[in-house]
Amino acid sequence: MKKNIGSQLALYPTPVTVIGAMDGEKPTWTLVAHVGIIGHDRVLVSLAAPHFINHCIKENQKLSINIVNEDFLPEADYSGSVSGAKEDKSKLFQYELGASGTPIIEKAPLTMECSVVDVYNTPNFESFICMIDNTYVEEVYLNEDGKINYQTLKPVLFEFPTYEYLRTGEVIAPCLSYAKEIKKGEK
Ligand SMILES: Cc1cc2nc3c(=O)[nH]c(=O)nc-3n(C[C@H](O)[C@H](O)[C@H](O)COP(=O)(O)O)c2cc1C
Repeated sequence: MKKNIGSQLALYPTPVTVIGAMDGEKPTWTLVAHVGIIGHDRVLVSLAAPHFINHCIKENQKLSINIVNEDFLPEADYSGSVSGAKEDKSKLFQYELGASGTPIIEKAPLTMECSVVDVYNTPNFESFICMIDNTYVEEVYLNEDGKINYQTLKPVLFEFPTYEYLRTGEVIAPCLSYAKEIKKGEK
């Protein structure tokens, strides 16, 4: 029998993102790995309530989710090391504003601009429930069918227990290919 290690936050790895929001005329950036998908039209961004970026998000009800790959992992990592309350992080990344007015990191392979539709409060955390307004992707990461190719985009993953970044990129099998084999009695 498996060892019971108690109540553990063990749903890892998760993708690492840099959340962007406008602080007046300037952007601010925060590294966030506690992100998730709700249904097919909402995403969740879980932030500790005291973080600097939270009030900027609430002010505009908008944020950007910048997927991190290894090309800008060092700067992304830095955005998770210091609070905007202590240091101006606005110059950390080259950026442009998207159609919804959120800051889009130039080096990020993919960015979603989001509108906040709800906030789910838990002790010391604010989880922003967002709808996706726009998705910007470097065209090299689109396949010939116009779909995002995560095999080449290679989002960096995070895991809390050992506090490390992990590499992605290999395809194991097409989804449901095993199911087809099992139905045919081949597995
Ligand atoms: C790898 C990594 C992942 C992180 N993930 C989260 C997260 O999911 N939620 C969160 O609130 N903070 C997370 N943090 C911490 C914030 O990024 C960090 O405290 C940051 O300095 C807060 O910045 P701010 O106060 O300017 O918003 C993470 C930090 C690191 C290094």
